[in-house]
Amino acid sequence: MLNRFIPTAILSAAIAPAMAADATYTKDVLPIFKDRCIECHGPDSPDLHTFEADEKKFTKDKTGPRMNSYGEMIYFIGWPDAGAIMRRLDDGKSAKDGKPGNMYRQLGSNEAERQKNLAVFKAWVGEGAWFLNRWNARGDVPAVTKEQLDKLQLKY
Ligand code: HEC
Repeated sequence: MLNRFIPTAILSAAIAPAMAADATYTKDVLPIFKDRCIECHGPDSPDLHTFEADEKKFTKDKTGPRMNSYGEMIYFIGWPDAGAIMRRLDDGKSAKDGKPGNMYRQLGSNEAERQKNLAVFKAWVGEGAWFLNRWNARGDVPAVTKEQLDKLQLKY
């Protein structure tokens, strides 16, 4: 039991401190976005509100809402779509039901790449700020708190 966890613990310890301090959008997140997300969330995609007005049609066309700039991506972290990046990219380890978000698989073509890119997103969002809560409570999941929001880093 214990053995299974040691390699990951060592790995995260090696990666986390180096990255947590200085992960930025331009240096770390943008290259992943360009490589793995822009195809469906790039300049030709509708803005969030246009997307929401016709969500079924866009989803059928494999077109997600636009996240093509720092500002547009923050929409999906803080407000109005609080926690969306975290819910969708999580590998299941932060989720109650243990299920990965449906965009986790987009993070890489193999598990090692997905984990590496997830660690970058987590470091950028901020230690302790990887919340899956929404702006408003839903079901038995409480709304995001000011304490959680205070931990957001999101350096440009
Ligand atoms: C092959 C196309 C495709 C790729 C590549 C892709 N996505 Fe998506 N994404 C979609 C579609 C379509 C939706 C809307 C349907 C849904 O909610 O699942 C979506 C939804 C989302 C949402 C939820 C938006 C909301 O309305 O709250 C987030 C967050 C997201 N994607 C992040 C990402 C990130 C980050 C990447 C890159 C690691 C990525 N996606 C890669 C197609 C894609």
